[in-house]
Amino acid sequence: MLLVDHVTKIFDPGSISEKVALKNVDLFLNEGDFVTVIGGNGAGKSSLLNAIAGKFFINDGRILIDDIEITNMPEFKRAQWIGRVFQDPMMGTAGNMTIEENLSIAIRRGKNRTLNWGINRNEKSVFEKHLSELELGLEERMKTKVGLLSGGQRQALTLLMATIKKPRLLLLDEHTAALDPSTGKKVMEVTKKLIADGGLTVLMVTHNMKDALEFGNRTIMMQEGAIIADIPLEEKKTMKIENLIQLFEKKSHTPFANDRMLLN
Ligand SMILES: Nc1ncnc2c1ncn2[C@@H]1O[C@H](COP(=O)(O)OP(=O)(O)OP(=O)(O)O)[C@@H](O)[C@H]1O
Ligand SMILES: [Mg+2]
Repeated sequence: MLLVDHVTKIFDPGSISEKVALKNVDLFLNEGDFVTVIGGNGAGKSSLLNAIAGKFFINDGRILIDDIEITNMPEFKRAQWIGRVFQDPMMGTAGNMTIEENLSIAIRRGKNRTLNWGINRNEKSVFEKHLSELELGLEERMKTKVGLLSGGQRQALTLLMATIKKPRLLLLDEHTAALDPSTGKKVMEVTKKLIADGGLTVLMVTHNMKDALEFGNRTIMMQEGAIIADIPLEEKKTMKIENLIQLFEKKSHTPFANDRMLLN
């Protein structure tokens, strides 16, 4: 359902600060794939997600979702198929608006926002149902301004907003990295549930190798703008973090020394 075909992204081409962020990347995702993405700092993980989401245009190659070529489509048009959650809990929700107002924006995505601004009773009950499934008590706080929520609550709400309209593709970029470990764990549980319930297709960047192995049905490893390994479910099942490090060293020909790739 997603095809990334020979994609290259060069920042500041021709200048002294030229940087090849993606080097001839090929990736195909089947419907329902949940792929975790690992790699060191600057490996190109965020660039891969940004290229797909349309944050910038690529220099070479093409990108298709459901056989629709989106390579030259602006970001806002791609948003009809793509849900995103970033690392920063402040992004993705409007802090000065209430939980229900934020959710009403999410369900109106892609529609004319000047029409029918009120939140009707039916929508409220849908929001309440979804919020209660997060098991964070947010269904009791629908009129609370989002700016008053904790980082974890806010990230869980952002996830709900990104998935409530069932995107064809969900992109998660270290969305638990700014949270404390126990909140991060809780948000990962929410993530897993929303993905399973929606049968979503997902690319999830993580620095946590344990999460990378535990979640999803496939793991890709990136280094210097390229995908250097693509690990299927059968291998993931038996793989330990040590094996992942060995694979990284074998494929990248560099010793493993990345303190941001968490070992626990
Ligand atoms: N907007 C930009 N302008 C110039 N260079 C950029 C830009 N965005 C990314 N890069 C460069 O492209 C390379 C890949 O960056 P990217 O953010 O994709 O890495 P990453 O794998 O997400 O790393 P991290 O783990 O630190 O988040 C890096 O060298 C980075 O400095
Ligand atoms: Mg990144």
